[in-house]
Amino acid sequence: MSAVSTEKEAVPNQNETTQKTQRPSQVAKRLEKFKTTIFTQMNLNSAIAERFEKDTGLVVDLEKEITVTSGCTEAIAATVLGLINPGDEVILFAPFYDSYEATLSMAGAKVKGITLRPPDFLVSIDELKSTITKNTHAILINTPHNPTGKMFTREEMNAIASLCIENDVLVFTDEVYDKLAFDMDHISISSLPGMFERTVTLNSLGKTFSLTGWKIGWAIAPPHLTCGVRQAHTFLTFSTSAPMQWATASALRAPDSYFAGLKSDYMAKRAILVEGLNAVGFKVFPSSGTYFVVVDHTPFGLENDVAFCEYLIKEVGVVAIPTSDFYLNPEDGKNLVRFTFFKDEETEGGC
Ligand SMILES: Cc1ncc(COP(=O)(O)O)c(C=O)c1O
Repeated sequence: MSAVSTEKEAVPNQNETTQKTQRPSQVAKRLEKFKTTIFTQMNLNSAIAERFEKDTGLVVDLEKEITVTSGCTEAIAATVLGLINPGDEVILFAPFYDSYEATLSMAGAKVKGITLRPPDFLVSIDELKSTITKNTHAILINTPHNPTGKMFTREEMNAIASLCIENDVLVFTDEVYDKLAFDMDHISISSLPGMFERTVTLNSLGKTFSLTGWKIGWAIAPPHLTCGVRQAHTFLTFSTSAPMQWATASALRAPDSYFAGLKSDYMAKRAILVEGLNAVGFKVFPSSGTYFVVVDHTPFGLENDVAFCEYLIKEVGVVAIPTSDFYLNPEDGKNLVRFTFFKDEETEGGC
């Protein structure tokens, strides 16, 4: 199926579509001379669609709105490379999962950062309003959020959505930790009014099923955006391991009890880790989702996050992750390090 026919079938009311939301299909025309091929197991597409409907209430087209990729990492790359042109302005919330900046730089995007600050890592809507312009092409969000464990609140989501609609901006949303949402319900921005048509939702089975090595991910988007994602996916990996796709379909159809158990296990581990970190004197910031907790290490007197993590490995035998690499300006992360509670309870207690 060619990109052009996908695009035509996909956008029934083109007169209502604004100029910029059509632009991704024009971007994909760079790659149009190459034939897009989607080699995928429809069984998996059905399982993804069932899951998405259960989670968000949205019904998606199996053939035209779901692209299976090699992990969310490839879904991110295909989305960025397929929908962003050199010079396009993209807003990132820092700290961020490091593949965003790397992929945006491969696409030649002009990255604008907004720094989320402790203790709550809340989005400043005023800062977002002043950063977003008519030249902004996309905003990348991640909720629940790596590395902070922050979950975007409904208020933040509504504000982001209305600014995106007002300024005709796309949203790329990375929701790999959606099943590790502890203190509030996960909100998928594509489910907010007027947002599905401008959103690419990115996910994978890695965190939900503790199978990060399987590398099965997906991108869900309306056909005019899927067309760009697939143009890039075709020439990044072409297709994703077929046996793993069958296995992922079964995993996604797990009973509700599986997802409830996953959540309660992680909540118990979070409690142990947070208690331990507080007890040894860290300033611990609240983590509402993911399996990460960010702390301020400065009570221990080391000069920065890297020095602190080196000290911790050498002197205590515990690994933490310095966060400065998650920022456009590394100075913003120099007081913060990330711990994880995905280890078993015995290991966590021992630390
Ligand atoms: C926010 C975020 N997105 C994506 C990924 C990668 O997902 P996958 O293993 O499915 O490629 C990670 C893994 O650490 C992550 O933290």
